[in-house]
Amino acid sequence: MAIYSDTVMEHFTNPRNVGEIENADGVGEVGNPVCGDMMTFYIKVDDGRLSDVKFKTFGCGAAIAVSSMVSEMAKGKTIEEALKISRNDVAEELGGLPTQKMHCSNLGADALHKAIEDYLSKKGQS
Ligand code: FES
Repeated sequence: MAIYSDTVMEHFTNPRNVGEIENADGVGEVGNPVCGDMMTFYIKVDDGRLSDVKFKTFGCGAAIAVSSMVSEMAKGKTIEEALKISRNDVAEELGGLPTQKMHCSNLGADALHKAIEDYLSKKGQS
């Protein structure tokens, strides 16, 4: 049975930044074809910083905890800083994830990066 850190459990029980941003500057959606879980990130950018980050996740508990953590990590960061948030950073911040749950952590960083890429391509910067 998978053992989760207290941080994972806390973010799963009380996820931050759940929801959708109307007129978001960037939207990134990713899914895992194996488990069928889906994650969508919405970002608002002001002066090159992520002024708001929200997500909607239809997925497992780890995916929800990951989304919550990624949203907290990304909020207030510059575009460049947010792009540096790696799959491993997210798992580390959560106090680790069981090996079979690492793909859930990957989804989080991927969805965030996709939302940023969407923002940059809309601005013609990618
Ligand atoms: Fe697929 Fe967690 S089981 S995202």
